[in-house]
Amino acid sequence: MTSTKVRKAIFPAAGFGTRFLPATKSIPKEMLALVDKPIIQYGVEEALAAGCDQIVIVTGRGKSAIEDYFDISYELECTLEKRGKLDLLAVSRQVSQMVRLSYVRQKEALGLGHAVLMARDLVGDEPFAVILPDDVIDAPTPCLRQMVDAFDQTHSSILATQIIEGPAISSYGVLDGKADPSNPRLFNVSDLVEKPQPGDAPSNHAIIGRYILTPAIFDVLERTPLGAGGELQLTDGIRGLLATEKVCGFSFEGTRYDAGDKLGMLKATVDFALKRDDLGPQLRAYLKSLKL
Ligand code: G1P
Repeated sequence: MTSTKVRKAIFPAAGFGTRFLPATKSIPKEMLALVDKPIIQYGVEEALAAGCDQIVIVTGRGKSAIEDYFDISYELECTLEKRGKLDLLAVSRQVSQMVRLSYVRQKEALGLGHAVLMARDLVGDEPFAVILPDDVIDAPTPCLRQMVDAFDQTHSSILATQIIEGPAISSYGVLDGKADPSNPRLFNVSDLVEKPQPGDAPSNHAIIGRYILTPAIFDVLERTPLGAGGELQLTDGIRGLLATEKVCGFSFEGTRYDAGDKLGMLKATVDFALKRDDLGPQLRAYLKSLKL
C-alpha cells in the first residue's frame, strides 16, 4: 500500500432516487435539502472531519447539479457582492472552497460494488472511505472519524453497523460476527449477506453507509458475480475479501437517518432544525401548538 492513512472518500451518487419521485425527476436525490444544505454536503463535511482531503463522487446522467453545487458560482457571487450581501457571499464561497473533488461517471446502474470500482484509478493502492450520502449520521464525534480512529488501530476494513429490529433488516447488508475483545464497538465479521429474507438474516447487525476499505477490495470486486437485484453488490465483494483479510463491523455512536426515505428525511429535518439557534425555538413552539 502506498499509504496507510485514509485520505480519500468515495461518494456513490449515481442512483435514480426513485423513493423521492417526482422531485428526483430533475434534482439528484443527493441535492435534496436537509434544512438548508443538500444531503451530500453532510457526508462531505463528515469526510473532512475524519481527515479525508480528497473526495471522489461517482455520478451518472442527470447529476450535473452536484458538480455545479461544489463549483464557484460566478453570477450568484458577483450579484451578492454588488448588493453588499457579504454574509451570503461567504456561505456560497465556503461550499466551493471546501475540498478537492473529482468526479467519475458510472455509465450504467450496475450496483454499489460497481460504483466503487469506478473510482479504482482515482483511489489507487491505499485504504479509502465510502460514504453513502443517503445515510446522514448525527454524532458528537463524526461517524467516519470514529471509524478512522478504529482503523488506525486495526488496519483492517471496517463497516459501520446498527441494530435493525424486525423485517426491515431485509433492506440492508447484514453481518455475522463476534465481539472483538479489544474494543466493545468492534466485531470480527465472519460472514455477510446483502438483503436477506427476514428469516435468513444471520443477525440484526445491519450495515450502514460508512465503510473503510483496503484497496484489496478492488481485485475482489472485479471477480465478484452479480448478486441481489442483479447488481454487483459491495457486500458480496467484502464477503470475498474475508477469504484473505480480517473485516470488522463497527457499532458507531450517533443517530442515523435514512434521508433517502421520505419519513427518514422528515425526521432528520425536524431534529436538525430543532438543534439550530435560528430555527429551533420557533419550530419547537409550532410543533407544540399542533393538535396531534
Ligand atoms: C446499501 C448497501 C447495503 C447497506 C445500505 C445502507 O443498500 O447495499 O448493504 O445496508 O446501503 O444504507 P441500498 O440502501 O443502496 O439498497
